[in-house]
Amino acid sequence: MILASFFLLSIGAHFTPCSEPFLNVSQRKNFTYCKKLTTLEAEFAWRINNEQQIEILFGTRLHTGFGWLAWGVNPDEMPQMVGTRAMIGIWNSDGSTFITTYNITSDTKMGCMLKPEKMDEKVQNEVGFHNMSMENINELDYFAIQARVILPPAAYNISKLNHVWQIGDEAEGTEPKMHAKTLQNVDSTETINLWVRDEAHHVGKHENHLRTVHGILNIVGWGTLLPFGVIIARYFKYPLENFHDWRIPLHVSCQIIGYILGTSGWILGLVLGNLSKFYIFKIHRLYSIFIFTFTTLQMLALRLKPGEDDEYRKFWNMYHHFLGYALLAVISINIFHGINILKPNDTWRQAYIGILISLGAIVTVLEIYTWTKFKRSPKPTASAQAGISATGLEVPQPRP
Ligand code: HEM
Ligand code: HEM
Ligand code: HEM
Repeated sequence: MILASFFLLSIGAHFTPCSEPFLNVSQRKNFTYCKKLTTLEAEFAWRINNEQQIEILFGTRLHTGFGWLAWGVNPDEMPQMVGTRAMIGIWNSDGSTFITTYNITSDTKMGCMLKPEKMDEKVQNEVGFHNMSMENINELDYFAIQARVILPPAAYNISKLNHVWQIGDEAEGTEPKMHAKTLQNVDSTETINLWVRDEAHHVGKHENHLRTVHGILNIVGWGTLLPFGVIIARYFKYPLENFHDWRIPLHVSCQIIGYILGTSGWILGLVLGNLSKFYIFKIHRLYSIFIFTFTTLQMLALRLKPGEDDEYRKFWNMYHHFLGYALLAVISINIFHGINILKPNDTWRQAYIGILISLGAIVTVLEIYTWTKFKRSPKPTASAQAGISATGLEVPQPRP
């Protein structure tokens, strides 16, 4: 399943050209290359004057109608916010506008005021931004910034250029304020070969596919098979006692497959977390560590479960039941959390809600069936009784 997903998804990995209207605007302005960036619905066009000089146009929507738009380059090994030399166009809510350059440092990331800073390519390894301009592209409802960028060859190479983009909703005069921290906002960097029209290594290009696989494995493994296994353990005892003999083998098989798929998804999550070195989703990570630890504990039942007649079996049952149900709750919270981080189209949420509704419907029908069967039957069936004596668990008893 994992290999198949990788295969299908890698086929889908390709360059995304610009939208028709942005392409028209860029061609009107004599830009020769144009591509859609992977996040923030941004689009990027460029023209190479020579190895050290490029013209760039960067545009996207600002949903509130004002805020700021930033584009910059980073001389480090990997593209990231800190160290980026950027130009930022600001549309203030009072109607004033500014476009100027900023040096983004670790102090900025810690919340210190981001002040304009003059940049000059004549200073060693410094980037030059010239002919900067900003505009609203009305036909597209886009805001855009444009400049000629001079890149010192000692620090930048246009066939392997780290570029970084960002948008924010708030600004005060020439000071842009903190941007949102969604995946779209933190995954807004890539290393690009400006010579090649359709080749750009985006940090999130392969990651996006891995994220999809991660989500699917987790939803199927933790989110579907584990609860299904619990339903089997619960209802094959009563009222579906005809399947009693299948109860534990099916429960255990379901949980083992669910655990293997879920753990693969979890490991993929850790790999993704490691690949994106400059940001972290703490709560999602904490929940997932909890889930992995305690499902592993549940799985130890394979070897460490007390025998049916053991005096501790009663307590093991209580612990196994309590932890099992608690895990189901945390898993569904974390799945919604993951979907919120990924912010894909609504299909994911709808699909998972669909799975929850189906599992809920099965449980409701079986609960109703349990109670009607229990009310009608004068005595519990032999196998249900066997279930009671074997486990010591409470099963509905017929009224005297
Ligand atoms: C206005 C001042 C800014 C502040 C206070 C700020 C603050 C932050 C913070 C706190 C994070 C970490 C988020 C997390 O780990 O959850 C972050 C991430 C990020 N920011 Fe900013 N930021 C600012 C401006 C910018 C600008 C202008 C750019 C782009 C040119 C940018 C690009 C990024 C990127 C790409 C990340 C992802 C992590 C990384 O690369 O370090 N930020 N920012
Ligand atoms: C993450 C994995 C697992 C979860 C979440 C889980 C959860 C549960 C839950 C909630 C129940 C109680 C159902 C009910 O009657 O209401 C249950 C029952 C049971 N589970 Fe698991 N389980 C897991 C793995 C395992 C494994 C690996 C075994 C291996 C032997 C196992 C053996 C049992 C047994 C024997 C029962 C029946 C207890 C009784 O007699 O009522 N479970 N499980
Ligand atoms: C119970 C199920 C899940 C577990 C155990 C889990 C586990 C993880 C882990 C360990 C990480 C790495 C966190 C970090 O170090 O920053 C992660 C990241 C992530 N997860 Fe999940 N996850 C689950 C469900 C989901 C779902 C259903 C989705 C989306 C549909 C999802 C989307 C993401 C995304 C987008 C990231 C960020 C990747 C990145 O940093 O680039 N997760 N997950």
